[in-house]
Amino acid sequence: MQIAIDGPAGAGKSTVAREVAAQLGFKYLDTGAMYRAIGVALADAGIDTADGAAVTDALPSVEMKVEFDGDSQKVCVNGQDMTGRIRSPEAAMQASSVAAFPGVRDKLVELQRRTAAGYDIIMDGRDIGSYVLPDADYKFYLTASPRARAERRRRDLLRLGQDVSEEEIEAEIRRRDAQDMHREYAPLRQAPDQVLIDTTAMSQQEAAAEILRIVRGQA
Ligand code: CDP
Repeated sequence: MQIAIDGPAGAGKSTVAREVAAQLGFKYLDTGAMYRAIGVALADAGIDTADGAAVTDALPSVEMKVEFDGDSQKVCVNGQDMTGRIRSPEAAMQASSVAAFPGVRDKLVELQRRTAAGYDIIMDGRDIGSYVLPDADYKFYLTASPRARAERRRRDLLRLGQDVSEEEIEAEIRRRDAQDMHREYAPLRQAPDQVLIDTTAMSQQEAAAEILRIVRGQA
């Protein structure tokens, strides 16, 4: 079985997907972590992540691997584990920059489909229901107001020891949403076959429960 969850930054996709995966005994693949890892690795190599030609030229020398480690996931680029370095607002913007380029998307989508094969899986991202797994059994679009998303992201970052102001986070989220929604290739938008869940006034546990009700046919 395949479950796809798409939506904008900070809508709670990862927390909800992780909870649903745990309840159903499925694997959870966080595709955003892959874009973050490649963005950070290219920036480390001195490449301007907004320069499409430079990013695309570098792709053949980038080897990416995703491993499941119990219920968590590890993303390695050229043998280096990137997991601990991808959760900052800078990494998010680097991800969004490189994610606009078709060469990057083709490379990661191929790896995402290969990883998904053979598992009951829940995947989250921007284009999972529309492109990566078009035949997914269930498709959701998770969203919330920019303010609610910024509040949530601030709490996530504090837990990781990063103290970033809510204003700064909200500005970054709005910039990234605009970039992700207006890019030419695989723009983020809600598709008619996705079930909309607005989590502005909902806890992440309630959102996960709503998805579980639908998947278990109790809705
Ligand atoms: O966790 P958050 O929603 O803030 O972001 P993420 O899911 O980790 O994704 C980081 C960035 O990667 C997004 O802003 C997108 O530009 C890009 N992305 C994408 O283009 N397609 C995906 N399937 C997943 C992420």
